[in-house]
Amino acid sequence: MLRLPKGAIRPRKAVLQMAPYAPPTSGRLGKLRLDFNENTVGCSPRVMEFLCSKLTPELLSVYPDYREVKDTLAAHFHVDPSQFVLTNGTDEAIQVFINTYVDDGNDVLQLAPSYAMYRFYAEVAGASIREVRYIPPDLQFPIDELLDAICPETRAVLISNPNNPTGALATVTQIERILKRARRAVVLIDEAYFEFCGITALPLLEQFPNLFVSRTFSKVYGMAAMRVGCLFSHAANITYIHKAQSPYSVNMLAALAAREAVRDQAFIQNYVAEVLAARELLCVGLEKLGIRYAPSSANFVLGYFGKRAAAVRDGLREHAILVRDRTHEIRGAVRITAGTREQIRRLLHELQEIL
Ligand SMILES: Cc1ncc(COP(=O)(O)O)c(C=O)c1O
Repeated sequence: MLRLPKGAIRPRKAVLQMAPYAPPTSGRLGKLRLDFNENTVGCSPRVMEFLCSKLTPELLSVYPDYREVKDTLAAHFHVDPSQFVLTNGTDEAIQVFINTYVDDGNDVLQLAPSYAMYRFYAEVAGASIREVRYIPPDLQFPIDELLDAICPETRAVLISNPNNPTGALATVTQIERILKRARRAVVLIDEAYFEFCGITALPLLEQFPNLFVSRTFSKVYGMAAMRVGCLFSHAANITYIHKAQSPYSVNMLAALAAREAVRDQAFIQNYVAEVLAARELLCVGLEKLGIRYAPSSANFVLGYFGKRAAAVRDGLREHAILVRDRTHEIRGAVRITAGTREQIRRLLHELQEIL
């Protein structure tokens, strides 16, 4: 942190105290990107075609009008347009969820390790954060420990399902148990990797007024740079979420791209099938190399490389293959995104050389 100049105003205490979060996003283009759980082949050609040929100067000159996009997305997600907002990626969904419900000092519960932005926005809000840990080596969803940790003061619970970086999945029955136990709290189920497992809490929206679900176009849809996602809840909750959100936080290009993207479900299904085959190949390959890993329901696998974790990350990088070192959270752990089978064969070949 730079020293504040004389006379500068100090930021809020919560901001002073929080740790900076700077994911390693630079210099990744052109490399085999198995480090951010993105789509490794890019978005549907239909989206590119739309962006290149259907945009008009008028579309760019007017402020966003999301109505038609929302109608298409509502039909796709089998919800009413009043049951969701478009968000600037899941990150804004988390932010607006916290901004709407969490006050300074409130009890916020999350799992660990999990997606860093839950802690990030809860810390900005000045919340008091408690964590329930996934237990190595299998890192299964710690349902009993989480239920025990929920107390009457708990204000918000944030769950990534499947979880990043462990790949662990909570069943719909387990989510229902959490929603019942946390009746006095809002519960966010972040379904960024839904397409790779098919388990969703969306059908529970009417039954549980404390449930919020987020989805993103950053992962299977291959549109991380566009920054677009959705936050779902009971329509009454969504009116308050609307109040706390900027009216134009999603740019119209991203909104239109999302509409085009959901129209090409064949592309999504093909990619998911390829990733699931690649994930299997990756798991078998790791086993052959004597590397243990946590079972995953998402498009990535967390492998235990022990003391060799940093050498593996650096060695792969020398061959233009990027993976994510998670040793700061779980000893010896490296997270590898499952792209295509061809990409995983290349990764396994280099891994074998390094090990
Ligand atoms: C669990 C989880 N949620 C959300 C995101 C990011 O989503 P977005 O790009 O929509 O902000 C990630 C990205 O790694 C993630 O792992």
